[in-house]
Amino acid sequence: MESRARLAARVAEIAPFHVMEVQTAARVLEAAGRTVIHMEIGEPDFPTPAPVLAEAQRAIAQGGIYYTSALGLPELREAIAVHYADHYGVAVDAERVIVTAGSSAALLLVNALLVNRDDRILLADPGYPCTRHFIRILEGEPVGIPVGPASNYQLTAELIEQNWSPSTRGVHVRAAGPTQGANYAPSGGSAAARAASVGVLIASPSNPTGTSIARDEMQRVVATVAQRGGRLIVDEIYLGLTYDHAPRSALEIADDAFVISSFSKYFNMTGWRLGWLVAPKHHVRDLEKLAQNLYISPPTPSQRAALACFRPDTLAIVEERRQAFRARRDLLVPALRELGFGIPVTPDGGFFVYADCSRFCADSERFCRDVLEGAGVAVTPGIDFGRHRANAHVRFAYTIGQAKIEEGIARLARFLGHS
Ligand SMILES: Cc1ncc(COP(=O)(O)O)c(C=O)c1O
Repeated sequence: MESRARLAARVAEIAPFHVMEVQTAARVLEAAGRTVIHMEIGEPDFPTPAPVLAEAQRAIAQGGIYYTSALGLPELREAIAVHYADHYGVAVDAERVIVTAGSSAALLLVNALLVNRDDRILLADPGYPCTRHFIRILEGEPVGIPVGPASNYQLTAELIEQNWSPSTRGVHVRAAGPTQGANYAPSGGSAAARAASVGVLIASPSNPTGTSIARDEMQRVVATVAQRGGRLIVDEIYLGLTYDHAPRSALEIADDAFVISSFSKYFNMTGWRLGWLVAPKHHVRDLEKLAQNLYISPPTPSQRAALACFRPDTLAIVEERRQAFRARRDLLVPALRELGFGIPVTPDGGFFVYADCSRFCADSERFCRDVLEGAGVAVTPGIDFGRHRANAHVRFAYTIGQAKIEEGIARLARFLGHS
């Protein structure tokens, strides 16, 4: 067996998804004949919309599935640009749209473009774990800033100001261990070890909290980052799934932001691995070079299929599903509060509820194991999303139908001694 010492150190620094462990444990229970209500999974249960499937079948039957431009099919880039105008009222030049292999590849491209060794990118804790892992893979420093209900679990301009470090101090200190461990720089960090901050990443609506940044706060964030000469990356992959107000893209106020989106969630196409990035025009050539080298081009059948996403029949389907997600949220959130979970801010987007479970257990990983064993309900421990009060939180995903949500709530109620 090859020695671990011969692997790149970064491998040891990337934490696994604890949600996978929950899933594995759930499968063991299912194999033993138990039923499990799955609220751990962060992907829509809805199938790919029929018009998209039909378009994919047509494309494959025609053949000609070759590489495309690394930037994506021109007609898809154009369709995405038109979608920004129609859906969000923002004019985006199609030349600024880069189709990527999932928004994951968009995150990789942007970070590869911006992050030098030890450069700091500020992001919210809790937040989507892969984001900080991408930064670490590139030897940058993800700086998780604790956020809570007071700011909708989002960064604020004030937090950015407090945590921004303007110049390189030149000392590189990194403890071993995954990015949930010591090297996931805490807010404030050790002054001696602080390198330059180069950017800020906002995800709105957020995974795991399902909460969005207020528009006036986003305006302040844009101004603060610009004043400091930093770059703003905005992950809007859940923006289409906004429930209580009209969705507003950051591109409305920050034309020079790097805005990331995806076909995975709103268009129910997780397995097709297709997303996109809107970048400032003068960076497109460099991003193209990176994409060419990293993966040559985004998947061609998926791109052809995605051309059907913006047709009225598909948009009608995904809109109906958005309403279904909203109804699920309206069922789940009050029921969880009733059971004693703390949900101080009603999530307004995505399909997640980040609930404080400290009333029941001080260790959310243990709580997840107990709830799975005792109630047959699978949820994700907060540790997957950072360190800030992670042990006090679990994430519920409402990616199952209402009947199953009701069953999950009933099981939790019995388990927690409510009935
Ligand atoms: C906030 C956020 N960003 C990006 C991604 C990556 O999604 P994909 O690569 O499927 O577009 C996810 C997936 O769950 C996510 O939650």
